[in-house]
Amino acid sequence: MKPRILVISSANIDFVQNVTHLPKVGETVVETRTYGYIPGGKGANSAITFSRLGGDTVFCAKVGRDDNGARLKRLYGDEGIDTRYIYENRYAPTGLASVIVEENGDNRIIVYPGANNTMTADDVEEAFNCMPDGVFIHFEIPDEAIYAAADFAAAKCIPLFIDAGPVRPSLDIEKIRKAEIISPNEAECEALTGIYPDSVEECLRAAISLSNMADFKYVVLKIGRRGAFIYDRKNYFLFNPPKVKAVDTTAAGDIFTAAMSYAYMQKGDIGEAVRFANLAASLSVTREGASSSIPTLRDVKAFAKQVKEVGR
Ligand code: RIB
Repeated sequence: MKPRILVISSANIDFVQNVTHLPKVGETVVETRTYGYIPGGKGANSAITFSRLGGDTVFCAKVGRDDNGARLKRLYGDEGIDTRYIYENRYAPTGLASVIVEENGDNRIIVYPGANNTMTADDVEEAFNCMPDGVFIHFEIPDEAIYAAADFAAAKCIPLFIDAGPVRPSLDIEKIRKAEIISPNEAECEALTGIYPDSVEECLRAAISLSNMADFKYVVLKIGRRGAFIYDRKNYFLFNPPKVKAVDTTAAGDIFTAAMSYAYMQKGDIGEAVRFANLAASLSVTREGASSSIPTLRDVKAFAKQVKEVGR
């Protein structure tokens, strides 16, 4: 059976520039590498991941009543996503992210949230009418909407999956009382716990600290090229990703958390879910852009086979 996942999160258009070097203060760099306007937003990247992996995906998001909003809504429909709860705000533009990608694939992102910032608890409540099997959120929508998603999920006993990005200083994490999995990257982990997870000891310290903040069954730290660190309140495990040549890391975290949550919803095995997510995210960094880099289930299966053969 296909699990129905409700993604309550953000939708953006990404203005992406590929650069050979970053400008210094006051410097103008003439850059002849490519640029593009690519659908992105942490929520949309994860919703498309669920759908391409085979999930029955419902996306709750807010866009502006403008060309970008209409383009995004069309794209989600074409991806097989249920767009009933994509709301339009006539006073705020669709979210826009400026994404700078360096030659080694590293990215820097500045987000103008626009309509994303107008999502309310009522919008969230309405979306729960779709009767999901799981709820997935990021922190790229207002605190009120995040708390509402967590409260409704808890009240209806629906498992909640949290990608803790981006860093959201106003959010009180303890108000999200319960989740199946919470998954921050290194910067988000430091912002939440004050601990930068740059060694196994620091990963463990950070994960324990985070798991003490609320009833989180699993803490999964996304630690970049080192892969993922799982903590289940008793034991910890480190899962290295397959080695690939990265061209663009944008959205790799969104894809990782969605792929992990999807696999976990199906089999309930966190180790297997993280292994699957490492494959999906590693494959995505070999491709350019956010939504444009998301693999299908068939891609991930083929890549798994390839990795196994290389490892022999
Ligand atoms: O995680 C990558 C995403 O962050 C981009 O697509 C951008 O829109 C921002 O939301």
